[in-house]
Amino acid sequence: MAVLRWAIGAILVSFLLLWGLLPSEILQMKTGEPSVAHAQEDSTEPKRVYTNDDWPFNRRRSATSASETETAKETESPSSARTRRAERLAPFVATPMQVVEKMLEVAQVTSSDVVYDLGSGDGRIVIMAAEKYGAKAVGVELDRLLVEESTAKIRERNLGGLVSIIQGDLLQTDIRPATVVAVYLLPGANEKLRPKLEKELRPGTRVIVHDIRIPRWRSSQDEAVQVGGGTHFIYLYKIPEAFQR
Ligand SMILES: C[S@@+](CC[C@H](N)C(=O)[O-])C[C@H]1O[C@@H](n2cnc3c(N)ncnc32)[C@H](O)[C@@H]1O
Repeated sequence: MAVLRWAIGAILVSFLLLWGLLPSEILQMKTGEPSVAHAQEDSTEPKRVYTNDDWPFNRRRSATSASETETAKETESPSSARTRRAERLAPFVATPMQVVEKMLEVAQVTSSDVVYDLGSGDGRIVIMAAEKYGAKAVGVELDRLLVEESTAKIRERNLGGLVSIIQGDLLQTDIRPATVVAVYLLPGANEKLRPKLEKELRPGTRVIVHDIRIPRWRSSQDEAVQVGGGTHFIYLYKIPEAFQR
C-alpha cells in the first residue's frame, strides 16, 4: 500500500514538473488563453505606439531591403547608373531648324566628320548632320523620353548606321572621337563643360554653339540668324594645338 502511494506521488510530482517545463505558447494553446501578442491587441489599455525599431522583423526587413538596394545598384544598367547622379545642365529647348542648318553649315560638316551634340534633345542636330551631310553623329542626352523620341526618329529614317544616341550625362561621356561638337546649354553649364572640351577634344575639332558662348574662349566666327522676329546667335570655335594658360 505504501509502495502504491509512493508510486502515485512520484507520478504526480513528475507530471507537475513536466507541466512547469512546457513552453508558454503550448500551454496557452492548451488552455485556450490568448497569446501575449493577441492579449495586447485585445486589451482595453491604451495601445503603445510602436516604431519600426521596436519590431525585430522590421529590423530584419530593413536590413534585407538595404541589401536589395545594393543588389539593385549592382544590376542597374550602366546608362541608368550614369544618369542617376547627373546634373541637369539645361532644360529642353529645341534649336529652330533654320539655326540647326546654319550651325552645321558654319561648322562645314562633311561626310568625314563625327558630330557630337551634347544634350541632344529630340535629335534634330545629329539627324540633320547625317541626313544632309552623311556625317556620323552621336547625341548624348540625359532625358529618357527624349532618348526614346530621338531613337525612334533615327529608326524611322533608317539612319541607324550613322546616328546613335547615348543616354547619359554629357559630363561623363567620352567625346574624344568627335570632330565637330554642338552645344546649346546654360551659361554655367558651358563653364563646367569647358575643361572637358579642352582636355578631350583634338586640335582642329570645331565646337559650334547656339546662343551661349564658351567662357574664356575666342570664337573664330559669329553668326546671327533671324527666326520669327527673334535673333539667334551662333559661335564657332576651333580647338587650338594648345590652350593659352
Ligand atoms: C537647350 S536643350 C538643346 C537640345 C538640342 N541640342 C538642340 O539644340 O535642339 C539642352 C538639352 O540638354 C539635355 N541635358 C541637360 N543636362 C544634361 C546632362 N547632364 N547630360 C546630358 N544631357 C543633358 C536636356 O535634357 C536638353 O535636352
